[in-house]
Amino acid sequence: MNPHHPHHPSTDDAQPLLRPTSIGELRLPNRVVMAPLTRARATNPERVPTELHAAYYGQRAAAGLIVGEGVWVGEQAIGFGGVPGLHTERQVAAWRQVTGLVHALGGRIVAQLWHTGAVSHPDHLGGALPAGPSAVNPQETVHTPYGRQGTVTPRAMTGADIERTIEAYAAAAGNARRAGFDGVEIAANGIYLLAQFLNRRLNRRTDRYGADPTRLPLDVVDAVSAAWSARRVGVRLSPYWTAADRPPSAPPCGAYPYTADARTLADHDALVAELGRHRIGYLHLRGRAPGAGGRAHAAWFAEFARYRRLFDGPLIANHGFDRAGGNAIIEAGIADAVSFGRPFIANPDLVSRFALGHEMAASDRATHYGGGERGYVDYPVWAGAETGSETWPGPGRG
Ligand SMILES: Cc1cc2nc3c(=O)[nH]c(=O)nc-3n(C[C@H](O)[C@H](O)[C@H](O)COP(=O)(O)O)c2cc1C
Repeated sequence: MNPHHPHHPSTDDAQPLLRPTSIGELRLPNRVVMAPLTRARATNPERVPTELHAAYYGQRAAAGLIVGEGVWVGEQAIGFGGVPGLHTERQVAAWRQVTGLVHALGGRIVAQLWHTGAVSHPDHLGGALPAGPSAVNPQETVHTPYGRQGTVTPRAMTGADIERTIEAYAAAAGNARRAGFDGVEIAANGIYLLAQFLNRRLNRRTDRYGADPTRLPLDVVDAVSAAWSARRVGVRLSPYWTAADRPPSAPPCGAYPYTADARTLADHDALVAELGRHRIGYLHLRGRAPGAGGRAHAAWFAEFARYRRLFDGPLIANHGFDRAGGNAIIEAGIADAVSFGRPFIANPDLVSRFALGHEMAASDRATHYGGGERGYVDYPVWAGAETGSETWPGPGRG
């Protein structure tokens, strides 16, 4: 058997994605990370994960690390239907079933802590206004219980609101620990609360949370670290988040969608450098999609490399990677691991497919954000070339 033939890999010359590594206190058997994916299957009034969630994550337990779907840190955080929480005892008990199964199957899973802030909607909050950094309408289109609607002008958070929010993150981290998670990832990406503070169009505060837009994300990191351990804390950022880079499956943008500019990038740089000094477990970077704006491959990697220089801890790269791109960015020393979102939806056995060089199946967008077991736990593992493995449509098109 030729050890260099892609279909007969040996462990000595394992492709970079299959080499073990450490992230914070976690030892990962491979560098294929499952990206956080909201799948909107917790459609029960208590917002608890179910047996379906356990089956879904169990099917994907061979990942080096699973970053679970975004979970609510409190009632005020809610802004999307079918998303489970991590702020009630029922939710903690239900998550224990999920983490227990993932561990029994040899996997690791962290909880992604999510707060929608100004892009929630009164229809999610019993008629109350959402709260954000300032009373500025984000002008986004968001999912509500009554379909997609425009966001409203939120109420500016008071100092007391901010204190309660930081406490909610700390409490959720304690809950994650009790629920058997291996750590937490603080979502400071996309268009949600912490990213709103990092956006000067939305953050017009005159207090210290406005004077320094990195203040709230850092206060949250400190509170969550105190509740557990900084090495169990990851932070997810999307510094380049711009409407034009949205995947086609995302809801359409409003009139004034997020745009990365020199200031948001500089604020992110300052935050990243500070996160390095805080010795967090890892930084999870959602970059721009490959080829976005007609960029060449080298320019795509250069964006990640900037953050590699600013942050000396473990770095997980994301967005539009395939097996070749993932191996290349690790081999180049720019990332320690790579996370895969859409590929993990359709390929529960993604690690094996990478190991064996098999084709990837494409995910069905119609069941990304709902559909019960369909499109959730029924994607088959590879079962031979004769079964007609579909071809993945490629980065940015799923
Ligand atoms: C259905 C779906 C749900 C997602 N949910 C989340 C989420 O809960 N939290 C988050 O930070 N990113 C979320 N994302 C973004 C993914 O984590 C990832 O950044 C994106 O899919 C790009 O990676 P990929 O090219 O490997 O799919 C979601 C993406 C999709 C397609």
